[in-house]
Amino acid sequence: MKKIAVLTSGGDAPGMNAAIRAVVRKSIYHGLEIYGIKRGYSGLINREIEPMKLGSVADIIHRGGTILHTARCPEFLTREGQEKAFAFLQEQKLDGLVVIGGDGSFRGAKVLEEAGFRTVGVPGTIDNDIPYTDYSIGFDTAVSTVTDAVNKLRDTATSHERIYVIEVMGRDTGFIALQAGLAGGAESIIVPEAPFDLSEVCSRLMRGAQRGKLHSVILVAEGAASAISVGEEIKKLLQMEVRVTILGHLQRGGTPTAFDRVLSSRLGAKAVDLLMEGKGGCMVGLWKGEIKATPYEEVFASSKEFSWDDYRMASILAI
Ligand code: ADP
Ligand code: F6P
Repeated sequence: MKKIAVLTSGGDAPGMNAAIRAVVRKSIYHGLEIYGIKRGYSGLINREIEPMKLGSVADIIHRGGTILHTARCPEFLTREGQEKAFAFLQEQKLDGLVVIGGDGSFRGAKVLEEAGFRTVGVPGTIDNDIPYTDYSIGFDTAVSTVTDAVNKLRDTATSHERIYVIEVMGRDTGFIALQAGLAGGAESIIVPEAPFDLSEVCSRLMRGAQRGKLHSVILVAEGAASAISVGEEIKKLLQMEVRVTILGHLQRGGTPTAFDRVLSSRLGAKAVDLLMEGKGGCMVGLWKGEIKATPYEEVFASSKEFSWDDYRMASILAI
């Protein structure tokens, strides 16, 4: 193992830069040549590569986004695109690749692995929807960002005695909604994992109103429902004042939390260790508190467990 590369792929996540820094510094420490591929798999197809030095990753540990840029690359889903990417890796005489991204990015890495090229995945997505890692890079920051937004919206909700329906990201999962809902004391949390009953949400709001509480915060995960329709329905059913906020892509930006920076550093460094040991075809994760590698097949065969205990507790605490 002499020459390796790193790329970021899929939706960006705060902490990806800290992971790139860890991969680059750890590689240089061990005397490896390390290269950055730009724009995820597009960079492999379009031959966008640059050598990384110690200084290339200076002053980025605290920055959101990714200095290597990221992309969703439909061409890499085709056989032709995959062959171009594989040929480029061989031509560059690269021995291994660290892929920082989500589940889709790891499926891409597996394609390269099956063609005979060694890869290690590092979970980076705000959604936290990847099994075999307690946390993916960016989730903690996104939850903090949402919690901060909920605090601010609660201030104005209280002043005006309004109901706020807030839509958060998470793709098909409700991990961001649940954690931020708990942290922000949301009155209701709507997630795709649980059946969605608007009449239950409304009775909760009515119970609050009967004891004089005229403001409420409802968090809706994008995969469960549209906050706009939820807001319209509540307004129609209860004749109360409702406002809707869709937090959108601001959840993906910002300075990573200390937790995300430490996680990124540990996962990035471990990915280099694995490649040096001649291992690949796996994702590194913080699993049950320990840094551990799991083969891609196992990752794809499983799904991240939803914390029903937390979900039920959130409902009890918001009674
Ligand atoms: P994420 O990695 O955040 O889940 P995507 O699902 O958009 O993001 O995947 C990122 C990229 O990974 C895609 O644009 C595509 O280039 C590649 N990819 C996704 N799924 C596959 C697949 N089944 N086979 C090969 N490449 C894939
Ligand atoms: O996977 C991360 C994520 O931010 C999801 O939460 C969201 O559904 C999606 O990406 C948005 O993707 P795009 O940046 O392409 O709009």
